[in-house]
Amino acid sequence: MSFPDNFLVFKGTPSGKIVGTSVPRKKPEGAQVLVEIHSSGFCYTDLHYLQQDMVLGHEGAGVVKELGPKTRYLKIPFLARNVSWCLTMLFHKYYSGDRVGFGWCHDSCGHCDECISGNGCHCRVDRHQFGTHERDQGGFASHAIWQEDFLYPIPDRMSLEDAAPMMCAGITVFAPMARHGLQPTDRVGVVGIGALGHLAIQFAAKMGCEVVAFSGSESKREEAMQFGACEFVLTPRGSAEKIMMKGKLLNHLFVTSSTLPKSEGWQPFIDLMASFGTIYPLTVAFGDISFPALPALLKSLAFRPCAHGSRLMMLQMLEFAVRHGIKPKIERFPLDEAGLVAAQERLLKGGVKYKAVMEAKV
Ligand SMILES: NC(=O)c1ccc[n+]([C@@H]2O[C@H](COP(=O)([O-])OP(=O)(O)OC[C@H]3O[C@@H](n4cnc5c(N)ncnc54)[C@H](OP(=O)(O)O)[C@@H]3O)[C@@H](O)[C@H]2O)c1
Ligand SMILES: [Zn+2]
Ligand SMILES: [Zn+2]
Repeated sequence: MSFPDNFLVFKGTPSGKIVGTSVPRKKPEGAQVLVEIHSSGFCYTDLHYLQQDMVLGHEGAGVVKELGPKTRYLKIPFLARNVSWCLTMLFHKYYSGDRVGFGWCHDSCGHCDECISGNGCHCRVDRHQFGTHERDQGGFASHAIWQEDFLYPIPDRMSLEDAAPMMCAGITVFAPMARHGLQPTDRVGVVGIGALGHLAIQFAAKMGCEVVAFSGSESKREEAMQFGACEFVLTPRGSAEKIMMKGKLLNHLFVTSSTLPKSEGWQPFIDLMASFGTIYPLTVAFGDISFPALPALLKSLAFRPCAHGSRLMMLQMLEFAVRHGIKPKIERFPLDEAGLVAAQERLLKGGVKYKAVMEAKV
């Protein structure tokens, strides 16, 4: 089967404008897979890389189009591999291979303790990830070449546009919930109701927890309750004032705002925590975190920044989402320069409700 000679990729530039470029197509080698991208989530973290000369986007979802010779489990139907490009173009829906997604991680050593336990995203030897490795590949593109081990089959009952945001936002909130043992009797707070936050509410609620949403936007009150929160607390951003929450103290607090509270901004949240509770700052912050130590010590709180989940957790997260009807609420933009700029501007202003997803014309 033949493919176009060039692929389209969207990269950062020194001015911060995302620019589309045509690049020569690559053939998958070894255990690599060529994925045609249909949907790609725009994560807030992409905004931190806008000035980098690299392909942006790390929440890709699409279909397998070509397999390297050492791939083992992903499939393309026989016809798709053996008919002409014209026929494939006409009937591409029927001639596509497996539906897959990919996230932040590209590859890992496969042999260290973390890799053997499925935590390749925490590989201690050779962690390949967004921003540092394979900077010519990413989600904002027509195609991507990816290691088979770091592609995740999408369940039949999940659309590709719903799957894309799960590849980073979904796993980022699900993984600490699964890893650190949320109990159905727990009360869970979520700060910042954006892409991560609205999924965190849904996951925690479906795990049986009581969820409290803390938001700086009154306009999100109703939807936060629809996502599964039992209480919505309007919380002025960065304020050190006491927060009035009605129910019991919190056992877990997921902080998913685009910026972290400053030192004095943590105290009102510490006051809402039950002893032995855990605060998970998931926000990407490049400076130091300043946190009131003594109040946290007196309650024996854990402070746990988290990133990534294991490969198994990624599959479990997708399965759990399908089983419980968890879906991102999406604002669609075309996967082209204008669409990316529009999504970027909305995201920067904190105006997306709740996840920007770039849609390719395929
Ligand atoms: N740990 C990881 O592995 C990981 C993975 C993915 C993303 N992240 C990080 O997680 C954060 C959220 O990402 P996202 O894609 O969910 O972003 P997002 O959709 O923009 O959501 C962030 C939310 O923060 C609140 N917010 C807006 N402006 C703010 C401001 N100036 N100060 C404080 N809060 C503000 C808003 O919620 P309200 O209107 O409800 O206040 C907004 O919806 C980012 O820092 C991102 O880089 C981390
Ligand atoms: Zn992300
Ligand atoms: Zn490793």
